[in-house]
Parts: sequence; structure tokens; C-alpha cells
Amino acid sequence: MSNVPGDPKPLASWGKKLSTRLSIATQRRTWTRRADTWDRHNDAGMTKVAAKAMEVANVQPGMVCVDLGCGGGRLALELARRGATVVGVDVSGAMVDRMLAQASSERLENVTGVVSPIERLSLEASSVDLVISNYALHHLLDDDKAKVVRAAYGWLRPGGRLINSDMMLGRGTTTQDRQVIASKIRVMAKKGIPGYWRIIKNAGRYLFRLRERPITPEAWIRLYQAAGFTDCSSVNVVAEANVVSGVKALA
Ligand SMILES: C[S@@+](CC[C@H](N)C(=O)[O-])C[C@H]1O[C@@H](n2cnc3c(N)ncnc32)[C@H](O)[C@@H]1O
Repeated sequence: MSNVPGDPKPLASWGKKLSTRLSIATQRRTWTRRADTWDRHNDAGMTKVAAKAMEVANVQPGMVCVDLGCGGGRLALELARRGATVVGVDVSGAMVDRMLAQASSERLENVTGVVSPIERLSLEASSVDLVISNYALHHLLDDDKAKVVRAAYGWLRPGGRLINSDMMLGRGTTTQDRQVIASKIRVMAKKGIPGYWRIIKNAGRYLFRLRERPITPEAWIRLYQAAGFTDCSSVNVVAEANVVSGVKALA
């Protein structure tokens, strides 16, 4: 099929755009509802994963960093405390407000917030030293994950790094996937009836890829490599989560 400008776009492309739009609207609604409570409970696993992402980032004062799906600023604020200039991006304005309120209470002037879906973010080419994201990119549709990795490659300066710390697992076909799923079920089951209700809801989301759309670390690395990243690596931090990193090669 030709792709001459002005030609009608193939139906599949309209379908993808509609899916992206629906996904963005769902994420915005869900996370705005959870903005007040999300980072109040200090989940030990999440804290460990974020700490590993920070270690891999090895941020230096003056670096320009972008945190995709920043939420209340778990990574963005930590980067700013270490002297980086940070842009936190989130689909939920309520989340960005929380991050900025915390930044101002700590007198961190090097943090700005952008309310935007990651899928539609546009930044100047070669303007960023670090693109980082914690537990956000698994919410994106698979085509959008690939698009964002390619976009991040464009935003980064040569030598810059893309770090994704996130829930990473496949569709339950490997032993590791099954172990992760079983351990999550065990944790939720301990909470009694509310836990069983969460198991049902999460099983639906995972099986039908409604809001939770994790892919394996290997699949992330393939996306990184396809976009041009080098030195790609993955480290497993807790059962369900890895930190995947890649570098935009020096020209
Ligand atoms: C699990 S929370 C993680 C928040 C934060 N990174 C942290 O470590 O606490 C996921 C965050 O991703 C954001 N998010 C989900 N989908 C998004 C999208 N398509 N574009 C931008 N932000 C998104 C949500 O609003 C939410 O703040």
C-alpha cells in the first residue's frame, strides 16, 4: 500500500490511534483517582527497584533528565536532590501537582512538570542526558512502547542513557513468569476478601492486557536495540521487576 501524503490512512492505523487514545484516557482517569494515595504506602519492592534505577543512572549535577510517568516524583525528586535538572512527565495533572508541591516544599527549583501522555510527548532532539521511567511504561500499548523507545533515542544526546525500571514479565509461558504470577497471588491472597477481589481484577487486566501490559526484559532489549541503543543490559531486582538500560552511542 502506498504512503503518499494525503492518501487515506489504512484502517489498521486508525484502529491503533483509537486504542492509544482509549488507553491514555483510562490511565489518566485511573491515576488521577489514585494520586493522593499512590506513594503514601512505601512498598519495599518498589523502593528497591527505584533505588537500583538511580544507581544505574549514576546522575551527576547539571545533567538534564526526563522522568516518564513521574507520578508523585519518586525518581524526579531524587534526581533533582542530586543536582540534575529534571522534567517530570505524567498523564495525570494531579500527579504532576503532587510532585511540584513536594519540590517546592523542599525548595527544589530544578524540577518542572509537564502534563502529557508519554505517547504524545515531543522534546527537542539531542537535548537530554537521561530518560528514565519507573513502573510506568508497562501501561503503554506495545506499539507505543516501541515508539517511545525510538523517540527517547532522538531526545538523548550521544552518550545519553535510557533507563526503564518496571514490571517485566511475559504471558505466563515461562517458569519465571509463572513464579512471578504465583508470588503476586500469594501476597494478595494474604489480605483476605479484598485480596481475592484484587486477584480477580488483576487477572482480568493482565489476561486481557487492559491496563497492565508488561513485556519481558528480553523484549525491552530488542526494542532498545531496534531503536539504535548500544550497551543494553538488564538487571533483575525483585521477582517481577527489572531495570533495563541502554546508551545512545557517541557519534
Ligand atoms: C505505577 S505509577 C508510577 C509513578 C512513579 N514513576 C513512581 O515511581 O512512583 C504509574 C504512573 O505512570 C503514569 N502514566 C500511566 N500511563 C501514562 C501515559 N500514557 N503517559 C504518561 N503517564 C502515564 C500514571 O499517571 C502514574 O503516575
